[in-house]
Amino acid sequence: PVLRRTKIVATLGPSTSTPERIEAMIRAGLDVARLNFSHGSADDHRERARLVREIAARQGRFVALMGDLQGPKIRIARFTDKQVQLQVGQPFTLSRAHPKEAGTASIVGIDYPELVQDCRVGDELLLDDGRVVLVVDRVEGDEVHTTVTVGGPLSNNKGINRRGGGLSAPSLTDKDRVDIKLAAEMELDYVAVSFPRYGSDIDEARTLLAAAGSQAWIIAKIERAEAVADDEALDALIRASDGVMVARGDLGVEVGDAELVGIQKRIIQHARTLNKVVITATQMMESMISSPMPTRAEVSDVANAVLDYTDAVMLSAESASGQYPVETVQAMARVCLGAEKHPTSTKSHHRLGETFSRCDETIALAAMYAANHFPGVKAIISLTESGHTPLIMSRIRSGVPIYCYSPHSVTQNRVAMFRGVYTIPFAPSDYEPADLSNAAIEELRRRNLVQTGDWVILTKGDFYRDSGGTNGMKILLVD
Ligand code: G6P
Ligand code: MG
Repeated sequence: PVLRRTKIVATLGPSTSTPERIEAMIRAGLDVARLNFSHGSADDHRERARLVREIAARQGRFVALMGDLQGPKIRIARFTDKQVQLQVGQPFTLSRAHPKEAGTASIVGIDYPELVQDCRVGDELLLDDGRVVLVVDRVEGDEVHTTVTVGGPLSNNKGINRRGGGLSAPSLTDKDRVDIKLAAEMELDYVAVSFPRYGSDIDEARTLLAAAGSQAWIIAKIERAEAVADDEALDALIRASDGVMVARGDLGVEVGDAELVGIQKRIIQHARTLNKVVITATQMMESMISSPMPTRAEVSDVANAVLDYTDAVMLSAESASGQYPVETVQAMARVCLGAEKHPTSTKSHHRLGETFSRCDETIALAAMYAANHFPGVKAIISLTESGHTPLIMSRIRSGVPIYCYSPHSVTQNRVAMFRGVYTIPFAPSDYEPADLSNAAIEELRRRNLVQTGDWVILTKGDFYRDSGGTNGMKILLVD
């Protein structure tokens, strides 16, 4: 069977909380379950995480868990009748003094009082991901007075962005600080930080996670215009994190949809060059919220992210609250496999002509060069503590599977996010050095992943339990 290399992240929610549904999602190909801390209670998330772990273990699968912090999403308050209809050309006021539950078709409260200071005459405010647009006419006392330029329905708690970005909300809110402790308690594998502006936002999250005893890797969601304004800002955020998400919802609103495709390609390429993982997210199969079939455009979108060489593609409402969560994962898996047949998915020009900075990096990249150029090689075995060695390997385009051999459950789950990397639990310290290579190959043979006559590449260091110590590569014949 052909292994799918691109990984699938799916958000769990009301549509995917029963054991039966979660089991079906894992069978359909779920690699990373996302818990969205913007919705649901701590107990909802605990229960979903427990089910994922239990069912994955029963099926012999490795599924990583990612908590996504809500962050400082700026929102309007609520309407007396839940929803109003705005007409183009009408005046509409945002007010920090207006009662929170008593919005009307002419005025509504705001949850973020600083919005009033941040707004300037002429600013374009995008509500509900740009479905409604307001232009600021004047700012007075507690109120921002605007004119509607794109009208439509507007309902409770919808988000507000400014075209061009620049609203000054700090990245980690009080709720995020509580949720970081929850993530640590739940031993999540990844934590995604929403709306980070600088590397220091990520450093702060890292410090809080470490203090709470978490080993989670941090994903920076790239969703502010400032984060992609120049390569320096983008690379600083990427370097500070363990991976990034192309968070196309808010990002698209801030930079404009026409800019988004090019920015997606730039983020993916920069992340890979800097040895980080990258997830492509938002509206990938949006119509499948209420339809059992994706549109051609959605198929193209997923396939193009695969060709851009993203590690993972992500589902939000499609899997959390849609009518066809399992069918959506199946469709995504099918489209990924189809796109991976394209030759650009297996040929690499990555970092040719560049120098490397570390010994383990050099071995990992040399192993991929060997695997891609020696046709008999059917598998790569990477002995690893943290997942770092297979991470670097999987930055290179290849059709050869990379097997992460690690005794640690945190590493076994973590690498479920990496493109083309698959977990095989393995403790090198169980073997005499002279028997290690044979034992490692035997694990592949038992699973019918290699057969007599195949070549296998194995990387390791001189010592067990030594992260960063990879310094050797072997080319082994299966016999
Ligand atoms: C295993 C191997 C070591 C190697 C290490 C690399 O422990 O037995 O020889 O040095 O993995 O781990 P890393 O976290 O750097 O991928
Ligand atoms: Mg967002």
